[in-house]
Amino acid sequence: MKAIVVTDQAAGTAGMTLTERPEPLAAINDVIVRIHASGFVPTEMEWPSTWADRAGRDKTPSIPGHELAGVVTALGYGTTGLSVGQRVFGLADWHRDGTLAEYVAIEARNLAPLPGDVDFTVGASLPISGLTAWQGLFQHGRLQAGQTVLAHGAAGAVGTMVTQLAREAGAYVIGTGRAADREKALDFGAHEFVDLENDTLKDVGDVDLVFDVIGGDVQEQSAALIKAGGTLVSIVGPVEARPTDGLAIDFVVEADRADLGEIVQRVRDGRLRTNIGDVASLDDAVGALNPTTRRGGKTVIRVLP
Ligand SMILES: NC(=O)c1ccc[n+]([C@@H]2O[C@H](COP(=O)([O-])OP(=O)(O)OC[C@H]3O[C@@H](n4cnc5c(N)ncnc54)[C@H](OP(=O)(O)O)[C@@H]3O)[C@@H](O)[C@H]2O)c1
Repeated sequence: MKAIVVTDQAAGTAGMTLTERPEPLAAINDVIVRIHASGFVPTEMEWPSTWADRAGRDKTPSIPGHELAGVVTALGYGTTGLSVGQRVFGLADWHRDGTLAEYVAIEARNLAPLPGDVDFTVGASLPISGLTAWQGLFQHGRLQAGQTVLAHGAAGAVGTMVTQLAREAGAYVIGTGRAADREKALDFGAHEFVDLENDTLKDVGDVDLVFDVIGGDVQEQSAALIKAGGTLVSIVGPVEARPTDGLAIDFVVEADRADLGEIVQRVRDGRLRTNIGDVASLDDAVGALNPTTRRGGKTVIRVLP
């Protein structure tokens, strides 16, 4: 099969090559998915799981990409809950070969059905950004209606999901980002916007929940804004700044069929908009994943045109 592989950590996304790899085999409880579209998070090149298996052994050449939408073509031994020919989307195991390929072997529990009226490109754009926002707000942040959320990077892949889901849940959303991101963050539902290049976070006032996608100084300044009993949720942990009288948590997103179902239902009924930028074929993926201009949303690779 055709696949994008990486072999050189120092080279980053520029070291990606399109090559031929053996088709994967289905292990216990796996399915094989013919991938129609794949998402990608640019920081994957920095994740240890891109380079090593669960035992810490070098796994290069490794296939990156962990978000997929496609069709089940085979079941592993003992696999239940999905069937051959079913449309699915979901989040691939961090340590196994990923989704920038024509096929992937993946545990069935990491997938959810993709309704027939949702395009594969849309399906592939949702798993990491949608699940991260959902789990950060509701599972780890215990968001309640009427609370105030400081949503950092509100025009980004995760941030646009955080902004929309928090607003739908009845929160007051203060988005942040670069000056150029103001209109986009407001368009995705932020009630107000803090330009981190020119404004000061101190002026924001108290908030119940900080959703941190940036870390460093921004995280530290944000922790000081959290009300008693509030929460700092970070996806770029480990957290170094803690609220004086609140909780701090960093987490890594997990595949969850029920959560994927909540997210895709919101896309179907218009409560959630995707944030898709460039869409490129697998043949053009290396160029598309090495943009020369700032990304205008999540890059999705359409593996099967
Ligand atoms: N723990 C987890 O489970 C998990 C899950 C998903 C993502 N992540 C991590 O979360 C981070 C965000 O992911 P993403 O996919 O949402 O990335 P993204 O699409 O690039 O969004 C991040 C947004 O924040 C902005 N930003 C970053 N640094 C900034 C700064 N100093 N000042 C103002 N704006 C800034 C970015 O602007 P620019 O594009 O101009 O930099 C972008 O708009 C990444 O580090 C990713 O690896 C973790």
